[in-house]
Amino acid sequence: MPLTIVRNDITKMDCDAIVNAANNTLLGGGGVDGAIHRAAGPELLAECRTLGGCDTGRAKITNGYRLPAKYVIHTVGPIWQGGGHGERELLASCYRESLRLAVENGCKTVAFPLISAGVYGYPRAEALRVAMDTCSDFLMEHDMMIYIVVFDRGALLVSEKLFADIRSFVDDNYVERHEDNNRKRLFGLFGARKESAMPAAEAMHNAEAAKADFEECSMMAESAFHGAALPTSLVNAINQIDESFSQMLLRKIDEKGLTDAQCYKKANIDRKLFSKIRSDVNYKPKKITVIAFAAALELTIDETRDMLMKAGFALSHSSKFDIIIEYFISHGRYDIIEINEVLFEFDQPLIGG
Ligand code: APR
Repeated sequence: MPLTIVRNDITKMDCDAIVNAANNTLLGGGGVDGAIHRAAGPELLAECRTLGGCDTGRAKITNGYRLPAKYVIHTVGPIWQGGGHGERELLASCYRESLRLAVENGCKTVAFPLISAGVYGYPRAEALRVAMDTCSDFLMEHDMMIYIVVFDRGALLVSEKLFADIRSFVDDNYVERHEDNNRKRLFGLFGARKESAMPAAEAMHNAEAAKADFEECSMMAESAFHGAALPTSLVNAINQIDESFSQMLLRKIDEKGLTDAQCYKKANIDRKLFSKIRSDVNYKPKKITVIAFAAALELTIDETRDMLMKAGFALSHSSKFDIIIEYFISHGRYDIIEINEVLFEFDQPLIGG
């Protein structure tokens, strides 16, 4: 998963480089700046003194000294002044400039804090969105592992409206479907009680429809048995029954007119994993990988269920993760960054691979 969000103390991250949310003097401060200097030891400050400060939106690199990370990339975020003073562009520049230095110094793994989202007052949800969008754009052209490190449980990391919508979707489906299933099982055992039985007309309609379906299927079976040509749609359907996950994935990439790279980058999947899937027709992916591809390919909820089934999975209403995924797919919201921000907020695994 080239871009992921983790809850941790950045000074503990064993990456090639960690990024410091510094101030223009580069001579230390509070927050993550203070934590990094404390963990790195006095040699860090001594090296910072030689750098001559740093402009907002720019970045400079030092050694990591006593930190697990080999390097510290110091960048200075904008102070939030309401959003009308170029804050977004300056913040995005912090991530771009830090990543440029990381590439120049051969870094393969980089960890960022939420720059400007503390003392500098940048709203957390927007600060996270700038971080994810800028890093995601960078990863379209580069191979690197990027961690966005969230340290505390402050304000929401997603919009309040989206959080509320998903919270009620999870509450309804999670509780309701369970009761529904129980109710169905009970009625099946003891028959529907009079006052809650399905209206007779509806029951009759359903029975007629079921009978018609059965007759159509038995007719098709009959014609198949006698060698008559089956409708093309049924032939395709039968052919796809034994299609593997990998075959369905490659078929869908072609149908959507995407290149392999466009698809796996959009799915937050690294190149090596995609190569494994492409070269093994029976590859068994993780559920988070299947769902990431479903989102990248903008599959319908039925196509998503079909792809999951080919990998041996299903969407269940006894899982908050599955219900959140169903929310996004059934609402046609396929932005993996947004999906992962919400999954992170609900303490669920992120999608990608
Ligand atoms: N690991 C990861 N993230 C951390 C840690 C940590 N150990 N400590 C704090 N954070 C988070 C905060 O919760 C916040 O979300 O880092 C984010 C950035 O907060 P600040 O450190 O306050 O940085 P910023 O908002 O960019 O303000 C920079 O604060 O510390 C001073 O010298 C610094 O003057 C500069 C200003």
